[in-house]
Amino acid sequence: MKYLVTGGAGFIGSNFIRHVLGKYKDASVINLDKLTYAGNKDNLKDVENDSRYTFIEGDICSSELVEPVAKGCDVIVNFAAESHVDRSISGPGSFIMTDVFGTYVLLEAARKNDCGFVQVSTDEVYGSISEGSFFETSVLSPSSPYSASKAGGELIAKSYSETYGMPVLITRSSNNFGPFQHPEKLIPLFITNAIENKALPLYGDGLQVRDWIYVIDNCEAILAVMEKGRTGEIYNIGAGNEFTNLEVTGMILSELKKPKSLIKLVKDRPGHDKRYSVDTSKVRELGWKPSHDFRRALKETVAWYRNNRAWWEKIKSGEFLEYYRSHYYEKHGLKEASQ
Ligand SMILES: NC(=O)c1ccc[n+]([C@@H]2O[C@H](COP(=O)([O-])OP(=O)(O)OC[C@H]3O[C@@H](n4cnc5c(N)ncnc54)[C@H](O)[C@@H]3O)[C@@H](O)[C@H]2O)c1
Repeated sequence: MKYLVTGGAGFIGSNFIRHVLGKYKDASVINLDKLTYAGNKDNLKDVENDSRYTFIEGDICSSELVEPVAKGCDVIVNFAAESHVDRSISGPGSFIMTDVFGTYVLLEAARKNDCGFVQVSTDEVYGSISEGSFFETSVLSPSSPYSASKAGGELIAKSYSETYGMPVLITRSSNNFGPFQHPEKLIPLFITNAIENKALPLYGDGLQVRDWIYVIDNCEAILAVMEKGRTGEIYNIGAGNEFTNLEVTGMILSELKKPKSLIKLVKDRPGHDKRYSVDTSKVRELGWKPSHDFRRALKETVAWYRNNRAWWEKIKSGEFLEYYRSHYYEKHGLKEASQ
């Protein structure tokens, strides 16, 4: 099986590539990634000399680049996206380009080259739910430019299945966590800040509920959908680990033996969804279920960031530093090293 994975230098994509190469000896993978601030070739250092793996630096919005690369591939798995909600609020344009237009370019490449297509989407397309869980048939009501652009991308993907009869599958997963996640996202930001005795800027009252899934469980779910899912269908993916952000923050601090005084409540994000929750019966009917216990996986994730300090220090000291300082500190009037 020949996979074209886009956005494979990011968090989930890099875990997916490593997982596929480890699981299937006959797999080969092309990783097409623009290497935005979120893309990092270090995420796949351990496989870069594997003859089954090829890296191509490039933009999914370029049909001249994408169409020849897709030739001969069995499937395109589209992870490439602008993925950070805060950045979508300060600058939505790149989200619409990559997450909507880029998805269209990839779909055209799949259509011309007879490739299957997997659109990796998010539970955020549904918006917030106070009670119960969203089904795949629920109305989409995205709240941020990020989730709206993801909804746009997946609707186009769905239309290619309906209109051209293409083998398209869509996954909508809940919040992932694990190794190699960019330290702008909640869990790695808070782990790395706590290690450095820096403030943990928690939005609003910290009572937003998210359903956390360990990244490898999501990778396995995507493979289950690819292998057993019905063409043209959408699959929610989640592990049923609903916690408030405050609870998760408390678990991180307790694992690192750091004081709760590091938590600094800051002005809430505009349009911040209160709770995400998806019903996952449909993907479970394919025989998939999560195999990682949340607390244990969080413990291992904390250990990974503790043991891979050079990986995140490089990111936190590079071009990300300016954004990080202005967004997380100056904007909220926090001191960088506040104990
Ligand atoms: N992280 C989560 O919790 C989560 C949950 C549900 C769905 N998703 C979806 O999963 C996918 C991967 O998420 P992630 O957290 O790994 O994101 P990420 O930000 O870590 O990685 C995104 C990758 O896409 C690349 N990229 C961005 N624009 C590109 C372009 N125009 N052309 C080529 N490459 C480009 C970046 O360089 C980066 O390597 C995204 O589509 C996201 O919407 C993520």
